[in-house]
Amino acid sequence: MSKVQGRLRIAVQKSGRLAERSLDLVRDAGLRVMKGANDLLYRVENYPIDLLRVRDDDIPTFVADGVCDLGVVGENVLEEARNGGPQAEILMPLGFGKCTLKVATPPSLDYAGPASLEDRRIATSYPRILKRWLESRGVSADIVTMRGAVEVAPRLKLAHAICDLVSTGATLEANGLIAQETVFDSQAVLIRSPQAPEPELQHLLDSIIERMSGVVASQG
Ligand code: PRP
Ligand code: ZN
Ligand code: MG
Repeated sequence: MSKVQGRLRIAVQKSGRLAERSLDLVRDAGLRVMKGANDLLYRVENYPIDLLRVRDDDIPTFVADGVCDLGVVGENVLEEARNGGPQAEILMPLGFGKCTLKVATPPSLDYAGPASLEDRRIATSYPRILKRWLESRGVSADIVTMRGAVEVAPRLKLAHAICDLVSTGATLEANGLIAQETVFDSQAVLIRSPQAPEPELQHLLDSIIERMSGVVASQG
């Protein structure tokens, strides 16, 4: 995707847990967002800025590659995307989208700590984070990667345990699963590209970051 010259780009989640609050942040920072004919791109009326509305999983790459100058994304998604290449820089936590990646088990599994996961199958949408956590606990287990509906995996006998995001806990509860371990604490963060913007946009970028940090501080 090539960049429109003379405009900054901010990546936000199109739909899902962070979508609405991400737009609020942008608006509270004084950007007048115009829903365009194009669902992927919203234009900002009062500044040369576009919002790119994408899947959250795509945001770390877009920002790391400089396709977008800023992004709003869950730290969990950012952490999962870490791959040793150039990375987006976390500018600040945003105070919303709080959730925790947890290992949870069905009552049928007699859980007495990470060692109980040895040689078990664990379903997750966060294989890299889970792998690092298992390694840090000296546990070797099979990771089954699922894009969604992770919570049904134990019932379908696809896995012995899961590692999934927990916010209210309603999903675990509804599926009879018990939270056992906290693997990663997450919230929405503002990230910046390691690639500098066009020189004439640097000042605008700095001032948008400043305004956003003012919005976050005022909500402290
Ligand atoms: C996460 C997770 C659970 C749910 C947990 O899904 O996969 O389904 O949230 O939240 P709760 O503790 O409040 O019930 P999410 O909505 O992020 O999206 P996805 O599963 O569709 O990717
Ligand atoms: Zn996602
Ligand atoms: Mg879900």
